[in-house]
Amino acid sequence: MAETPETNKPDFRNGFPISNLGDGSTISGQADGEELVLARRGDEVFAIGAHCTHYGGPLAEGLIVGDTVRCPWHHACFSLRNGEALRAPALNPVPCWRVERLGDQIFVREKVSPPAPKHGTEGPSSVVIVGGGAAGLAAADMLRREGYDGPLTIVSADASPPVDRPNLSKDYLAGTAQEGWVPLRPSDYYRERRIDLLLHSRVSSLDRERRRIVLENGKVLGFGALLLATGADPVRLQVEGATDSQLHYLRTFADSKAIIAKAASAKRVVVVGASFIGLEVAASLRARGIHVDVVAPGNQPLERVMGVEVGLFIRKLHEAHGVVFHLGETVSRVSGRIAALTSGTALEADFIVLGVGVRPSLILAEQAGLAVDRGISVNEYLETSVAGIFAAGDSARWPDPHTGERIRVEHWVVAERQGQVAAKNILGRREKFDAVPFFWSQHYDVAINYVGHAEKWEAIEIDGSLDARDCAVAYKKGGGTLATVTISRDLQSLQAEAAMEAAIRPQEREVA
Ligand SMILES: Cc1cc2nc3c(=O)[nH]c(=O)nc-3n(C[C@H](O)[C@H](O)[C@H](O)COP(=O)(O)OP(=O)(O)OC[C@H]3O[C@@H](n4cnc5c(N)ncnc54)[C@H](O)[C@@H]3O)c2cc1C
Ligand code: FES
Repeated sequence: MAETPETNKPDFRNGFPISNLGDGSTISGQADGEELVLARRGDEVFAIGAHCTHYGGPLAEGLIVGDTVRCPWHHACFSLRNGEALRAPALNPVPCWRVERLGDQIFVREKVSPPAPKHGTEGPSSVVIVGGGAAGLAAADMLRREGYDGPLTIVSADASPPVDRPNLSKDYLAGTAQEGWVPLRPSDYYRERRIDLLLHSRVSSLDRERRRIVLENGKVLGFGALLLATGADPVRLQVEGATDSQLHYLRTFADSKAIIAKAASAKRVVVVGASFIGLEVAASLRARGIHVDVVAPGNQPLERVMGVEVGLFIRKLHEAHGVVFHLGETVSRVSGRIAALTSGTALEADFIVLGVGVRPSLILAEQAGLAVDRGISVNEYLETSVAGIFAAGDSARWPDPHTGERIRVEHWVVAERQGQVAAKNILGRREKFDAVPFFWSQHYDVAINYVGHAEKWEAIEIDGSLDARDCAVAYKKGGGTLATVTISRDLQSLQAEAAMEAAIRPQEREVA
């Protein structure tokens, strides 16, 4: 095995002994200075780019499932055969190389061309997507990838093209991500793919009989198929004495920019709500050197979602970074720079961020008479009660085969994957949405990954140690595991996901 002095990584051009690569395992190396990963599945060996096209996660540390590799950071899935990004959150392929076996040696040869763009796929006369977020963009992207050439429009109430929303409370808000990283796609992407992107455009009504939507500006758009990807809106609170300019919510790029503008001169901020978004905002404002008080009604942050043990860990983590919690409290009134709590405590605040949850945006579906049950009701194909009208993302409630319940979640990866599956079903594929729900959250240098769905559980089992930031926390019910939270155990998170998939698709067994 030859090594190059610059990187100390094996150069696969010079051969690599297959006996050094166990079945289901991976090894990183390089070819002509480009980092890549060799992955073995049975007698087959594949060579693909080393870094995930989402945030650059190390694919060598991922999990091989069938002829795919899954990214350890946020569970994107790539084909080992051609590098195609099969599942969000990655939307772009990774490079792939041809591999040749001579005796016991594996040689990496030339790059394999990515799959050729498809064209001429039959589909509806036109597709309109309401919503320029995770689900909407992923659906439009998949429609074009699948070769749909018909008219395709995204109508979005947002002022900006689809953005990487999770970044808005994390690196971008903390000042460690550049503005140019936030858009999901460059502006010429929409022109090249012939996606008509209508921004600042709110749809005011949906006429299911005449198959058309009406925008607030009076414009009327007919559709052959429609995807409702309207997401969710922050719950807004009336805070006595507070002016609108003192209160901030965080959903859009504009919201994040407004907080950053205020943060430039702020010394003290009150965050109301110890939700994921509230706490991520707290962490990002601490990174900017701002004092943060978090006010929330519960006993521990995130206790309802992750239980008391994880909640306490998260609280201690934030306290170690200087956040001051006021739990079991709410802000009762605001007077100038003073926020008064129910206990009588007075907190100084240059501004207040409210992160007290979201409500799914259902109004269009309700007014049009679609079936709605705390979310737009969809079947396993993500089709609503009206044929040809689909829903995906935070606004959709779907039959989850893993829990056997109809659920609705607010997870980026689920929204994108639903958008992708809805797109295929708009083209008549009849693909069931059966992905295991997954989300991540980032607090300082601690990433928390969650797979599955547990609204209620009977017991929590912790393997490892929360304090050591190295653990898997299982949420158990009836002898089974509903969900698993991991910290610093990315492979275990992927394995938990694969095991849940295999439970409903026994033919798909993980290899590693
Ligand atoms: C700050 C922040 C951080 C987050 N971090 C994470 C994270 O770390 N991990 C995670 O898993 N999830 C995270 N989430 C949640 C994740 O972003 C959502 O689950 C995801 O965006 C949902 O996608 P969606 O397409 O359903 O909705 P959205 O992305 O919200 O998009 C909805 C779109 O619909 C448009 N719209 C709504 N009504 C209309 C109408 N009538 N007419 C026209 N357009 C309309 C909106 O303008 C918007 O463009 C975060 C969310 C926020 C706000
Ligand atoms: S970095 Fe790979 S999925 Fe996010």
